[in-house]
Amino acid sequence: MRQLIIILVTATILLGWGKTGHRVIGKIAEENLTPEAQAKITELFGHSDLARIGNWADEIKSDPKWDHSHDWHYCTIIEGQDYAGPETGGRAVQKVTEFSNLLRKGTLGEKDQKDVLRFIVHIVGDLHQPLHVGNGTDRGGNDVKVTWFREETNLHRVWDSQMVDHMQYSYTEFAQQIQLGMSDEDKAALLDPTLLSFVNASRATHPQVYDIDDGKLSWPYIYKNRELMEDRLLNGGFHLAAILNDIYK
Ligand code: ADE
Ligand code: ZN
Ligand code: ZN
Repeated sequence: MRQLIIILVTATILLGWGKTGHRVIGKIAEENLTPEAQAKITELFGHSDLARIGNWADEIKSDPKWDHSHDWHYCTIIEGQDYAGPETGGRAVQKVTEFSNLLRKGTLGEKDQKDVLRFIVHIVGDLHQPLHVGNGTDRGGNDVKVTWFREETNLHRVWDSQMVDHMQYSYTEFAQQIQLGMSDEDKAALLDPTLLSFVNASRATHPQVYDIDDGKLSWPYIYKNRELMEDRLLNGGFHLAAILNDIYK
């Protein structure tokens, strides 16, 4: 029984954005790929549907063969400091850099190219979930117990999935809704990121994300954070496209 509880607890603390969040980011990214990137991804997968590719890195957590990948989904920036590498906790930044370089080099076989690309799509998405850039004290908010409409949960899970799911959009509706009214200039501005700039942007949201009063979260928390959540998903989509476009240019 104790083992079962440990397994269940571990399973709930390690996921990134939930399925819908990763699909939204994948969908937006796909719509903004260059023809070259789209062709290369289609060559590998038979399609370039990044919404379909984006959740694999969470699914393989059920395969012990991939146990070593569990800390590739997040990173840590200690309060008041700059990002200081994987030693502070989590290898997400290191892995996106390493995997992008591997794809650029062009020496991987087809299976490895596919796995590496699936990881990039997923991890870049995760790094836009504010609590996947942790502060090093509470496992990205997993230790911050809160209630969500009276259900016991934690702050990390609220951001991974509960707030996204609360919107009751399909991922395609979500992707469409949050891009409404964007001009070409708006889009171009989002297509020029650096990895550390968006990691820092996620971290910079923490004062707002952690503003939880008594921890009983419901409508007022959504009211305050909906725009931020949508902004992070939107940025995730464009930044992912930018990274893939740069790899396959
Ligand atoms: N474990 C430790 N830090 C974490 C984070 N920021 N996100 C997910 N899991 C974690
Ligand atoms: Zn998560
Ligand atoms: Zn993840």
